[in-house]
Amino acid sequence: MRLFIAVNLNADAKEALAGVTRRLQASASAGSFTRSENLHLTLIFLGEVPSEKAAPAARAMDLSAVPGFGMRLFGASAFQRSGGDIWWVGVKDCPPLGALHLRLAKSLSDAGFVLEKRRFSPHLTIGRGVVLKDGFDKDAFSDGIPGIFVEISEICLMKSERVRGALTYTPIHRTPLAP
Ligand code: 2AM
Repeated sequence: MRLFIAVNLNADAKEALAGVTRRLQASASAGSFTRSENLHLTLIFLGEVPSEKAAPAARAMDLSAVPGFGMRLFGASAFQRSGGDIWWVGVKDCPPLGALHLRLAKSLSDAGFVLEKRRFSPHLTIGRGVVLKDGFDKDAFSDGIPGIFVEISEICLMKSERVRGALTYTPIHRTPLAP
């Protein structure tokens, strides 16, 4: 199964980010845009693992629990790709988020998971393969994103699969982060 550990968004944050996604889509001539129910921030990508690895991953998450905290979404930018860019919304500097990521990475490594070496750069992907119409002003778009505050009170182990062609994420374990 394909697994990742994520922060999901509360309803208000999801609605606000879905609005940002719709605005980007309206300015694009091509691309696939994240469905609002799929909007999330990935903490750790585990990739394709045997199903019996889900339980140790869940234990490692529980061992990494920290008190809950808030993060603020901030600005938008894109990773350039030849077939269309990957657009994302960023996170304002958030030390507790970095600390949680480090604890998780340590716990998972101790449990035998081999993790990607890439530096953690928190982002929420809102579109892939995006080609924007002529005249699109990236800076104005980014500056126009409202302050979106996300209260983080749990982390989720997510299963990623295609269901009738649609990319679908299902939480299979939740670790609460105490207030
Ligand atoms: P992305 O949004 O930047 O693509 C499910 O695929 C989640 O895991 C996505 O949030 C995705 O990030 C993240 N992810 C991290 N590394 C990945 C990889 N090597 N392949 C696919 N998804 C990855």
